[in-house]
Amino acid sequence: MEKKNVDWGNLSFSYMPTDERYVSRFKDGAWDEGCMTKDPVVQMSECAGVLQYCQACFEGLKAYTTEKGQTVVFRPDMNAERLKNSCERLEMPVLPEGRFVESVEKVVKANWAWVPPYGSGATLYIRPFMYACGPVIGVAPAKEYEYRAFCTPVGPYFKGGVKPLTIRVSDFDRAAPRGTGHIKAGLNYAMSLHAIVDAHHQGFDENMYLDPATRTKVEETGGANFLFVTKDNVVVTPKSDSILPSITRRSLMVVAEKYLGLKVEQREVLLDEVKDFAECGLCGTAAVISPVGKIVDHGKEICLPSGMSDMGPVTKKLYDTLTGIQMGRIEAPEGWIHVIE
Ligand code: PLP
Ligand code: COI
Repeated sequence: MEKKNVDWGNLSFSYMPTDERYVSRFKDGAWDEGCMTKDPVVQMSECAGVLQYCQACFEGLKAYTTEKGQTVVFRPDMNAERLKNSCERLEMPVLPEGRFVESVEKVVKANWAWVPPYGSGATLYIRPFMYACGPVIGVAPAKEYEYRAFCTPVGPYFKGGVKPLTIRVSDFDRAAPRGTGHIKAGLNYAMSLHAIVDAHHQGFDENMYLDPATRTKVEETGGANFLFVTKDNVVVTPKSDSILPSITRRSLMVVAEKYLGLKVEQREVLLDEVKDFAECGLCGTAAVISPVGKIVDHGKEICLPSGMSDMGPVTKKLYDTLTGIQMGRIEAPEGWIHVIE
């Protein structure tokens, strides 16, 4: 089979329908066996739980073509576990881990021609998601659900690729204490849309959200966790119960410690100490690691010493090692690389 005729090097992070997607229905207390479909359109009741009360959650992971030409996905078991946590918090049925991984395998296999070639700079983004399609009018969980997984080839999440970003401290909050910030619920993103549109209007790439209770601690951005590097090369990431446990961030902490021999810390990070860091980056499946050059706090500029033209040196090493593992140039820790046969 031939790869699709796509300008892989110039893709942005946007949706391009591919050939097939996976779909499975939950009804009468059980999942059906699931199947592939060519139809990208979903139909449901006007009273579906997702439309009325936002009962939906999703995941995001990527498939890569390695240096040796294999097609692989990165840590799908971690996404399965996070989807389970999202479903439990939203009173949705859990899709067993085996079913999740099988759906990812099937989607990547069926759309092999859309997996960008090695060295193209693009990857195949896989979007598994679940939503309540059964009708509800009183506030309650629905009784019927659909799980789907589709994929789309993507380029960099932020325009300009790995150019350092300028972000602002947001006046809006993303997630309440004891709320849903730690799960991948669509409602968290609906909450952030006004803040991101406003940030873009003001010329910023993203929002830095603070902890809503005290507004003194750094949480995360709308679509990625923070990594900071101190002047003596310690990799620091914020600890909070209301941020999404990023698989990329957790992987990078292992990379920093085990591959690069750096000290790592997961702890509360005060906004006041951000000015003392040497480097800052946003990490996530879509963002990979995107360097931050400047953080603007209500007119007060915090300029990271790493500057506005390149990634800081530690961020660069983290980026090169993680992407090296994903593309098969560097040996991966046990279980991180799932080969699609
Ligand atoms: N934080 C938020 C709010 C996100 O949407 C994402 C993206 O999934 C991340 C962090 C990064 O998580 P991961 O590395 O698992 O993609
Ligand atoms: C991801 O990185 O997979 C996400 O879901 C982030 C989203 C903002 C695209």
